[in-house]
Amino acid sequence: MILQSILSILVLLCILQNAQSLTRPLVIGHRGTAYLPELTLSTQSMAYAYGADIIEIDVCLSRDNQLIVIHDIYLNGVSNVADIFPNRNRSNGLHYVIDFDLEELRRLNIHERVIPLNGTQVFPLRFSANANIPFRLSTLNETIELLLGLNRATKRQRQLLIEIKKPEYHLQYNKSISSIVLATLNAYNLTQSTDPVIIQTFHIEELIYIRQVLQSNLRLFALMTLNQVNESSSNYDYYRSEEGIKSLSKIVQGLAPYYEFVVNYDSNGTVLGITNFTKWAHQYGLAVYPFTFRQDYFPGKNFEQLIDFFWHTVQVDGFITDHPDIVLQYLHKEMVLPQLNDIYQNLSPNLCSSSILFLFTSIIISKIFI
Ligand SMILES: *[C@@H]1O[C@H](CO)[C@@H](O)[C@H](O)[C@H]1NC(C)=O
Ligand SMILES: *[C@@H]1O[C@H](CO)[C@@H](O)[C@H](O)[C@H]1NC(C)=O
Ligand SMILES: *[C@@H]1O[C@H](CO)[C@@H](O)[C@H](O)[C@H]1NC(C)=O
Ligand SMILES: *[C@@H]1O[C@H](CO)[C@@H](O)[C@H](O)[C@H]1NC(C)=O
Ligand SMILES: *[C@@H]1O[C@H](CO)[C@@H](O)[C@H](O)[C@H]1NC(C)=O
Ligand SMILES: *[C@@H]1O[C@H](CO)[C@@H](O)[C@H](O)[C@H]1NC(C)=O
Ligand SMILES: *[C@@H]1O[C@H](CO)[C@@H](O)[C@H](O)[C@H]1NC(C)=O
Ligand SMILES: *[C@@H]1O[C@H](CO)[C@@H](O)[C@H](O)[C@H]1NC(C)=O
Repeated sequence: MILQSILSILVLLCILQNAQSLTRPLVIGHRGTAYLPELTLSTQSMAYAYGADIIEIDVCLSRDNQLIVIHDIYLNGVSNVADIFPNRNRSNGLHYVIDFDLEELRRLNIHERVIPLNGTQVFPLRFSANANIPFRLSTLNETIELLLGLNRATKRQRQLLIEIKKPEYHLQYNKSISSIVLATLNAYNLTQSTDPVIIQTFHIEELIYIRQVLQSNLRLFALMTLNQVNESSSNYDYYRSEEGIKSLSKIVQGLAPYYEFVVNYDSNGTVLGITNFTKWAHQYGLAVYPFTFRQDYFPGKNFEQLIDFFWHTVQVDGFITDHPDIVLQYLHKEMVLPQLNDIYQNLSPNLCSSSILFLFTSIIISKIFI
């Protein structure tokens, strides 16, 4: 009886072990989803409804120090600011968030992303940039209240990943954007690593400042991209080396690299191999969440194969994606328990099968002789 119970447990464990996986990577809705104008409360709600584990947003400061949920430090790519405030551009033609008060920003309509000062839609097949719908900018407060409200109403525990945009730029205006983000989170009692918010930024030294000087206990992710993109003054060639990753492991919980830091491609999007980035990150206890997986813009020909490669071969811990629904659908499909046939075929020389065989023999022997 005891042996039989042990056998059953072992068989069950083997089935589970041979299933693709019991856990799946996290799915992070990048600026919400691809389906509605980025970062609006509408697209964030959509990401939530699709089941994204985490919703990723960006924040910049207004002139009156309010945290505005917007990706660029200027307004032109996603709003009608040039129509509403025709004379408030700078010499390069752009209207900067930091030159406006919240009350003014509230008057803008938000639309699908276009090339600034040009008007061509960046992703032509997405929601029409010409739709006459008064989408609005939201504040960090509103976004936090949306997430907490949805968590409460659905009894779920989803999370917000807040990207602090360009701390160095804000400092030129004597604004410590990180201090204001932490103060805002503090007002919502969001201060601990177990709370459903995570902070990330490209400026790696700012993360060190947040941890060591501002003494935040929140989870922190380090964003990394090519130095030439000029997201910050941080040297990503160092931070993506083994030594850099090791030093970051004392500060942050996760790394959010440009996906070409973890996989090498040729110019046609064919995978050439994986880098040591993920291996080193895991070695030093850090999770890896590459960006940005877009079903309408990716290297190679098959989006599902790309997701599969990053999941099973690169072994990332999550996907930062404009298409959380499509990534989740694929992950769930792959997580269905395999057929028994597959399991028996897989029961080759592993520990699992030998221990079952041993117990099986023991049971037969005990039935015969006892
Ligand atoms: C700024 O906006 C005004 C009014 O729309 C326009 O005439 C001017 O050309 C713009 N400046 C630049 C540098 O684009
Ligand atoms: C806008 O940009 C697109 C793509 O770069 C270009 O083809 C087009 O000529 C530009 N239009 C204007 C009005 O500048
Ligand atoms: C920022 O503060 C410094 C020192 O207090 C001052 O010299 C500078 O003018 C300020 N800059 C801005 C943009 O307010
Ligand atoms: C956001 O919340 C903080 C803390 O409660 C508050 O100080 C601030 O005025 C709020 N901002 C807006 C725009 O509601
Ligand atoms: C903040 O959270 C802590 C622990 O989660 C709880 O003990 C405390 O009562 C909360 N405070 C407020 C003001 O909600
Ligand atoms: C890089 O960004 C910083 C801050 O936004 C800016 O001051 C600097 O001019 C930029 N450098 C280049 C080469 O674009
Ligand atoms: C990419 O594809 C084109 C057309 O099929 C081919 O001519 C080219 O050699 C390929 N490039 C690489 C790097 O494989
Ligand atoms: C990656 O790791 C392998 C094996 O640990 C090592 O041989 C190789 O030199 C590493 N690559 C780089 C670029 O450090």
